[in-house]
Order: sequence, then C-alpha cells, then structure tokens
Amino acid sequence: MRCSLTTIVKQRQPPRSLALRFAHIAIATPHLLFTASACADPPEEATAAFSATVSSDQQYANSLGTVATYDPAGVIDLGGPFFQSLGSNGRSCFSCHRLDQGMSITPSSIQARFTATRGTDPLFATVDGSNSPNADISTLTARRAAFSMLLNKGLIRVGLPIPANAEFTLGAVDDPYHFASASQLSLFRRPLPTTNLGFLTTVMWDGRETTAGNTIDADLLAQTNTATLTHAQATTPLTAAQARAIVDFETALFTGQYRDNVAQELATKGSNGGAAAPSDFLATQPFYLGINDPLGDPRTGAAFNPMVFRLYDAWASTLTGAGPKNQAQQSILRGQTVFNTKPIAITGVAGLNDNPAFGSPAILRGTCSICHDTPNVGNHSVGLPLNLGLTDAARRTPDMPLYTLKNLATRATVQVTDPGRALITGKWADIGKFKGPILRGLAARPPYFHNGFAATLTDVINFYDTRFAIRFTAQEQADLLAFLQSL
Ligand code: HEC
Ligand code: HEC
Repeated sequence: MRCSLTTIVKQRQPPRSLALRFAHIAIATPHLLFTASACADPPEEATAAFSATVSSDQQYANSLGTVATYDPAGVIDLGGPFFQSLGSNGRSCFSCHRLDQGMSITPSSIQARFTATRGTDPLFATVDGSNSPNADISTLTARRAAFSMLLNKGLIRVGLPIPANAEFTLGAVDDPYHFASASQLSLFRRPLPTTNLGFLTTVMWDGRETTAGNTIDADLLAQTNTATLTHAQATTPLTAAQARAIVDFETALFTGQYRDNVAQELATKGSNGGAAAPSDFLATQPFYLGINDPLGDPRTGAAFNPMVFRLYDAWASTLTGAGPKNQAQQSILRGQTVFNTKPIAITGVAGLNDNPAFGSPAILRGTCSICHDTPNVGNHSVGLPLNLGLTDAARRTPDMPLYTLKNLATRATVQVTDPGRALITGKWADIGKFKGPILRGLAARPPYFHNGFAATLTDVINFYDTRFAIRFTAQEQADLLAFLQSL
C-alpha cells in the first residue's frame, strides 16, 4: 500500500494532534534521503470520506477575499501556549504568527498595531523588531524610525554570526543601521507561516532548525524553544509539555484562500481550491520527502509530473454561464496552467545550474512547478536550498545591509544582503541560498520572498519575468496572478 498522509489522517479521524502524521519524515540534505515509516492498512470504517468544513470563526477577510486557517478537528484553542507570553518581553508566538494573516504578519496590520499602541506593543521590541538592537526608542518619532523595516516590510531582524568553520570572512559591512558585524550580521527576514507545516522539508528560510537525521517534529520542538528564548527573551527553556502543545497546535493547522471576491467560492463545481474543500483536500494531500522530485520520486520511482497544481482541473468542463464571476474562475484555471506549463529557461541558479545531479546544465528547461514541486502545496519537496539572486548587490534596496564576503581560499569576493544558508554551513557555495517555500495562503500575507523584496504578487511575477526572461503575455500575467491569489 502507499503510506501517505491521506492514509494516516484517515486512521486518526478526527485528528486532534496531527504531529504523528509527519513522524515518518526524516530530513536529510541535500537530496533524496528519507526514511519511510511502518504504516499499517487503515481500518475499513476509517476510509469513509473525510468531511470537514471550515467554521465561520476560522475564516478571515482580507482585501482579496477570505483566508481560512483551520484545524480539521474543528476547534482552534486560543488559550494554548502558542498564545501565551512565555518569555520576558510580553511576546507570544501569536505576536508574529497571526490567524488572520496566513500565520505570518503583514505591514498593514503591523502599522495598525503601532498606531494603536504608539509603538509600545510587545512586537516592537529592540531584540529583533528594530533595525538595530541599539536603536533609540525613547519617543514616538524615534520608534517610527527604529522599527521602519518591520513597519514597511514586515521584516524581523535575525542576528547570526559568521560560523567558525566558514570558508569565507566578512570583508566589509555596509549597514544603514550601524550595528552588524562578523559576530552578528543583521538579516531582515519575513516570518514564515506556522501552518501547513506537515509539508515542510526544512525548518526556517535557511534550514537552520533542521538537524540531519531528525524528524520535522523533533526540529519543530527544538525551534519552538529557540523562538521562545530569542523572540520572547525567555530566561528558561520551555517545558517539554509546553513545547509539545505548541507543536501539536501549529502542525494541526491548514491555511488556504477560501473565497475570492470576484471568483467567489474556490471549492465549487468539482474544484478543490480554497482551504477545506468538501473533501478536506489540503489536509489530506499525500506528502513525503521527495514526492514528485524532478530527479524521480524516491518512493515510487515515478518521473516528475510538472502538473503540480490540479486544484481547478474540474473547471475545464464544469464552468457555465458568463459574467465577472465566470471570467474570474476561467482566469484562475488558465493561471494554473501557466504555473504548471509555461516554459522557463532557468539559468544562474546556484543549487540547480551547478548541480551535478541535474548534469550541471547552463540552461535548465523547467516551469514554475519544477522548483515548487509538492503537489497542490507548492514548496520544494526536497531540502535543496537555491539562490535565485534576490540577495545580489544589484537587487539591494537602500534599506538593506550589504555584506562583502571574501573567500579564504580563492580571495574572490561577493556582495550580498543576506548570506542565507552559508551562515549555517559555512560553505561559499551556499551563499544566497534559501528554501523553496509553501505557496498556500499567499493573498493573506504580503510581502513575499525571505526579505520582502516583492511587495505584491504582481511584483513576484515581474521578478521571475525579468530574472528568467520568461516574456509572459499580459493575459498570462493576469491569469497567473489570479491563480496565485486563489491559493
Ligand atoms: C518577533 C516575531 C516572531 C515571534 C514572536 C515568533 N516567530 Fe516564528 N518566525 C519568525 C521569523 C522572522 C521566522 C523566519 C526566520 C528565518 O527563517 O530566518 C519564523 C519562522 C518560524 C517557523 C518556521 C516555519 C518554516 O516554514 O520553516 C516556525 C515553525 C515558527 N516560526 C514558530 C514559532 C513559534 C512556535 C513561536 C513561539 C514560540 C514563534 N515562531 C515566535 C518570527 C517570529
Ligand atoms: C529555480 C527554482 C524556482 C523557480 C523556477 C520558481 N521559483 Fe518561486 N521560489 C523559489 C525559491 C527558492 C523561493 C524562495 C526565495 C527567497 O525568498 O529567497 C521562491 C519563492 C516564491 C514565492 C514567495 C513565497 C513566499 O512565501 O514569500 C512565490 C509566490 C513564488 N516563488 C512563485 C513562483 C512562480 C509563480 C514561479 C514561476 C513564474 C516560480 N515561483 C518559479 C524557487 C523557484
């Protein structure tokens, strides 16, 4: 039998804690190593259709429609440790991971919190909320300047050193906030959503909370403790019970756009868009490390299928009528095809174009889905960090620090706004590499990319169009946008 997420969900119906579902995933970078769990056939009665709906209190309006963040078991307990202040600065996980913002936080909501509290909400802590830990926050005007990266782009300052074993040194620092040094680089990063976590292959943008040989569950237990000690400035670690409760809470959540203002219901006429479609489509997506990998599925041996998103396939034959709603649905359907099939000549992506497993091709012919390959979820199904060039000096915006890194062996230098994975491995080859993130619930949580480089999904599309000279037609751009907004 196929031991998939589906099977395990059905065995544990209704699932209160879904953490176990992911216990079969053992992480190993760079490629294609995994362990399979023992997985028994489900009992006969448990194979009945899984029908969960999203209750109204798990839906949240946003400018494009409604996002749902839901627990298939039906309840979201707002009283658990995820929502409690467990450190010394008043923050909780919920300070930066919010239900109405796709489990991340957006600049507009951060600005509203700033205005309502005159910049004194616990979110506005200098430990990692301000541009520099030494920033002056004595007046309202000072606070507005001190927290500008958080207010404008929803960016948190992650402080990491050049590792001791690094193949490079820090040659120069150009930090507009006069803080960063080799012992603590300032890396401005978006809070990743604490939802759909069962599809993760690595934890954090740079995979730093992923330990080889660990399950994702073990990684998340460690991560929740680090988050409490750093973001919340706790002086003692979480208890095992607190960490367990937080991880059980966050791994039970699923998020997707639920309703679009124009296309309206996203799970209708046979489609499986939105969040909890009638069959609870998202929560029952099969997943394991390496599923649908372009180098071949490690479990089934199946070749890569570029048709990664199949959410709206049924609409090809079931859509009827005319008018704005129908047109919007048709556009989403076409956008799904653009995502799955529009040819992209991938060049200069470290991790792919220099990867012997792919034959180190100067040009890798692919689609959006070759990197976003997890079926109907869109993250990279292996822990293979990639450098799209987002941290290159040429794309630096003046609000970002710029670091000059010097290769100890070759004396070569490179300038980046964030060394990414290289600060974890110390490897020159890992500079600028980040994981391929989950693409669900996008509409609820702008801006995009690890550094908020793209303010909108249109900016994301424009980035790719320029970066890979794709030459989307105006129609393709509009359709791809409609599709991304529907995820
Ligand atoms: C001050 C804001 C802030 C607080 C508070 C916070 N986080 Fe985060 N969280 C972030 C940022 C920023 C990242 C991404 C950082 C990176 O990858 O370098 C992140 C990443 C994560 C991830 C990784 C998800 C993935 O896709 O890899 C998890 C899980 C997570 N946080 C859980 C928690 C938990 C649990 C708590 C409470 C104990 C918490 N966070 C508190 C800002 C915050
Ligand atoms: C070469 C591999 C690759 C290709 C091709 C690719 N992506 Fe990505 N995508 C990534 C990686 C890696 C990231 C994270 C980059 C970062 O933030 O540093 C990303 C990030 C994103 C994000 C941001 C998500 C978030 O949470 O911030 C979106 C949206 C996205 N990609 C959509 C697309 C679309 C649409 C296409 C096709 C036009 C595409 N991608 C093609 C690898 C790829």
